[in-house]
Amino acid sequence: MLSKEDNELLTRVGAGTPTGELYRRYWMPLLLTEELTEAKDAPVPVRALGEDFVAFRDASGKARIIGAKCPHRQVDLVYARNEGCGLRCLYHGWVMDGEGRIAEMPNDPAGTAKDKISHRWCPTHEAGGIVWGYLGSPDEAPPPPPMGWTTVPENQRAASKVRINCNYLQCLEGGLDSSHAGSLHAGSLSKDLFPTHPRSKTDMFDLLVADRAPTLEVELTETGMRIAALRNADENNAYARITTWIAPWFASVPEHAGVPRFVNGFTPIDDTTTWVWFIWYSPTDVLDVPLLKEVSGIHDLERGYYTLANVGNQHNQDREAMRDGRSFTGIAGISNEDTAMQEAQGPIADRTVERLIPSDLAIIRARQGLLKRVRDLENGILPTGQSEDIPYRFAQSASWTFPKEHSWQDAYTALEGVEG
Ligand code: FES
Ligand SMILES: [Fe+2]
Repeated sequence: MLSKEDNELLTRVGAGTPTGELYRRYWMPLLLTEELTEAKDAPVPVRALGEDFVAFRDASGKARIIGAKCPHRQVDLVYARNEGCGLRCLYHGWVMDGEGRIAEMPNDPAGTAKDKISHRWCPTHEAGGIVWGYLGSPDEAPPPPPMGWTTVPENQRAASKVRINCNYLQCLEGGLDSSHAGSLHAGSLSKDLFPTHPRSKTDMFDLLVADRAPTLEVELTETGMRIAALRNADENNAYARITTWIAPWFASVPEHAGVPRFVNGFTPIDDTTTWVWFIWYSPTDVLDVPLLKEVSGIHDLERGYYTLANVGNQHNQDREAMRDGRSFTGIAGISNEDTAMQEAQGPIADRTVERLIPSDLAIIRARQGLLKRVRDLENGILPTGQSEDIPYRFAQSASWTFPKEHSWQDAYTALEGVEG
């Protein structure tokens, strides 16, 4: 459990809040490349950490993100004309460029006011099908993180996202929580999901569901955390699933049954709304993206990346399917099962009354890790994991069986060497 003060501290992300200031020190996934492609020259609204922005592509093709409200009299720039060099507000014609300058101010006859005014803007970076932004002070932006999936060919990676109606922390906790898989997803994790995949490891599903009380071991790493969920495979062998937390946004979840590597991301839109990111990638194989989205239940999103199943319709839970054994949860799609549980914790979960047990160790450690980062920054210590030589590509998940007399750490290190 958390004290009321710590729960407030970790869940409030607006400008000026301690956690909000921490998150403004990290490059954030803000929108999908496809959003700017489909919009052509139209500005796209972007909300992040409780602030409103608009994104657009300038004449050079670079993604730009600037404050949503015109600095003159606060008209929303989503209505603006994209003139290539910047956005022209329709009301009086001011042009704001991608780096905070007022390029034109046609209603100022003296022509001097534009040099005295600047506009909110964010450095941007585009990689892995995602437009990233840095919401902190532009001159303090570290190099963008070299995540493993950003370096594979385009047809070997895919990214999508879903808008979730609750605070980001319960989504992140869900991503780090290995012990829910054998319960919540017991019915959805079918060995038949990817029957045609050449590297299918079908027995992993059975192992996952057969032992629902894994032993957890958690190690802090330079990039965040490594969580080993250890299960019995048989008399002589253990089954290890290594989930990694790439602080602060990402959980890399172990593959199974030939599913490509999967990274879940969680970025706060504001205190009670979250983008959950879905990123799949393979160093070797072309992905079947429609199938991956369908299995996750995110193939049929509403405009604005809303899910059809939501808290308003109790996630379309089908009690009949539960009664006749067709579905354990009555909720279609693995991602929708997660969303349902996270939204069912309320807009901001009350962590002062929860009752944690040893299988919640990863969640406890992640909260401690976040609190430490928040307090360090208040004392002038910058967050770790911000330099280019941090081995993000090694911060990846894995799952495999191994003889019980061996340590999972030795086997994991060997895997890293092979896959790096
Ligand atoms: S409100 Fe935008 S130019 Fe006046
Ligand atoms: Fe889940």
